Amino acid sequence: MRLSSRLPQGFEPNALSATLAHLRAEGRPVLDLTGSNPTRCGFDYPEEEIRAALSQPSVLAYDPDSRGARSAREAIARHHGQGLRADELQLTASTSEGYGLLFKLLGDPGDEVLVPSPSYPLFDWLARLEGLSARTVPSYFHERWHLDLGALEAAASPRTRALVVVNPNNPTGHFLSISEWHSLTELCARRGLALLVDEVFADYALEPPADRLASALLEAEPPCPVFLLSGLSKVAALPQLKLGWIAVRGPGAAAHLEALAFLADQYLSVSAPVQTAAPRLLELAPGIRQQIRHRLQANLASLDQALTAHPRLSRLPVEGGWSVLLRRPAVDADEVCALRLLNEAGVLVHPGSFFDLPGDRHLVLSLLTGEGSFREGLARILALL
Ligand SMILES: Cc1ncc(COP(=O)(O)O)c(C=O)c1O
Repeated sequence: MRLSSRLPQGFEPNALSATLAHLRAEGRPVLDLTGSNPTRCGFDYPEEEIRAALSQPSVLAYDPDSRGARSAREAIARHHGQGLRADELQLTASTSEGYGLLFKLLGDPGDEVLVPSPSYPLFDWLARLEGLSARTVPSYFHERWHLDLGALEAAASPRTRALVVVNPNNPTGHFLSISEWHSLTELCARRGLALLVDEVFADYALEPPADRLASALLEAEPPCPVFLLSGLSKVAALPQLKLGWIAVRGPGAAAHLEALAFLADQYLSVSAPVQTAAPRLLELAPGIRQQIRHRLQANLASLDQALTAHPRLSRLPVEGGWSVLLRRPAVDADEVCALRLLNEAGVLVHPGSFFDLPGDRHLVLSLLTGEGSFREGLARILALL
């Protein structure tokens, strides 16, 4: 039987994943410098408190609200500040599900969304699975990353429905500047586009520029529809609990929220336990984030220390987020380089090309990696490069 053309043609793993599976099957140890799952990175979670939050008596009651429990939305509004109200929020089971709802809300099959690249590769599939396509528009690096606003405007077609930005971006760590923000909202207003802003990493500013956009909730009444996405997976480093949210502002916000609630009502996918626990989990989150910030800073310091002996290699600024870009001479393709590191040094890194980083010059390392593994992996990478 023919399956939907929205699906990939095949499900074969790429060369890097296939090699990794092969090495692991052979029992060869691999130092993984790509880990983005915080529950496996040795952080000290307040386990008792998390369990208590998830086992309150009310988790046994089912009292669905298609927008999500008000107490959870109020806690999320407090977390964001910026005058955000519970009424401006829609709960989802994850940020990824939030994209699915927004693409259903905004597009018809064949429509497209614009995504500045490099960026998070999942957008491509999230859009395709809703019958849309994600068109990438390269950003450029000059001392820091910049959106190419002219190219974004030129790429907007009558079928473009939205622009998707990640603030700070994954994996470049680029925070939008305030001036980029105003240009974006103005462009979207002029061209009738919605602006989707993924702020899952907004609490992890490492080397933030002074003019960074700290929150897409900067304005109570932005000139275009603004949808901010975030969730517990990064805010509280609890991806397994599956809670995300969308904050809605700008022209048409009330109608957009009503339609989102209708969409969410078809699935009611957010579990009662996580909604009940959300206020307490958000109280516990700063302690977890603090540990993560220490880890990110320690690994960045190790990298800087190690790079002093390797003038041909450098790293890009990490304005925010959980990744660092290691820049190397473009002597071979990024993927070839990553395969060589895996096969010859037993170290797993992401090739920059996975994220559309230009020019075969980048490897992406996760700063979430345990500090000992990070130093050891780095030493092996630097020895081989
Ligand atoms: C930029 C970005 N958005 C969204 C997600 C997914 O978040 P969630 O677990 O809430 O779906 C990730 C996960 O790494 C991410 O990097």
